[in-house]
Amino acid sequence: MPPLVEAFFDQTTSTVTYVVHAGEGSACAVIDPVLDYDPKSGRTSTVSAQRVVDFVRQHGLRVEWLLETHAHADHLSAAPFLKQTLGGRTAIGENIRAVQRIFKGIFNLGVEVQPDGTQFDHLFAADETFAIGSLTARALHVPGHTAADLAYQIGDAVFVGDTLFMPDVGSARCDFPGGDARTLYHSVRKLLALPAHTRLFMCHDYPPEGRDLRFECTVAEQKRNSIHVGDGVSKREFIDMREKRDATLGLPELILPAVQVNICAGHLPDPEDNQIAYIKIPLDTI
Ligand SMILES: [Fe+2]
Repeated sequence: MPPLVEAFFDQTTSTVTYVVHAGEGSACAVIDPVLDYDPKSGRTSTVSAQRVVDFVRQHGLRVEWLLETHAHADHLSAAPFLKQTLGGRTAIGENIRAVQRIFKGIFNLGVEVQPDGTQFDHLFAADETFAIGSLTARALHVPGHTAADLAYQIGDAVFVGDTLFMPDVGSARCDFPGGDARTLYHSVRKLLALPAHTRLFMCHDYPPEGRDLRFECTVAEQKRNSIHVGDGVSKREFIDMREKRDATLGLPELILPAVQVNICAGHLPDPEDNQIAYIKIPLDTI
């Protein structure tokens, strides 16, 4: 039986969180959960993540995995809240260590943040297979947006993270530290080599004017219609397009708090001696 997929769209960051399961009372995985964060006040909240909790409880699901496709730059992860509330093991790609090394330096993080991935319960090697109850899953290494991106293949569904967007939006940017357009091209072609009917689930949707929100399509649709990387677009054309376009993009609003927290598996910094936790802002660096 193909896995069942429930999507939760976060309007503020355009992020889609997924719960993947095999029916009432089964095991499940949560992919890319969002912690609400207001950058003006510095307040976090779990309103969005609570929708996931409610769904899991309503359907008697058992959370086995809290999966991150990568260290996101646009939202903070709610994995620690979900782990505490529902259980499950946090996981990300093993190359997160390279991402941690880069950002530990940029944020000048202390000994409490080691770039060894131990903040997560599990680090996936490329193409590692794992179980979600009766479902078989595989962690596909798809770097390019960052050095550590994974896509999760679960039955006929693939959660592509930040590689492809919907065909009329294109592909993810490659200009963050450790990103590379040539590498993303190869990752995307790897995804598009999957069977034509494979269901692809995007991590984000930024619908063009006049189009309703949509975050699922097939490999065949991407190959036919992707404006960035469909069949007929050469590697050279993709790299030129991607690099030119990335040079025009502003940074995501939450990149500094998000990356700082997400390289630590979503754990917020420890409170200081006044019991208040702080996010660091590196000046004139990014
Ligand atoms: Fe991202």
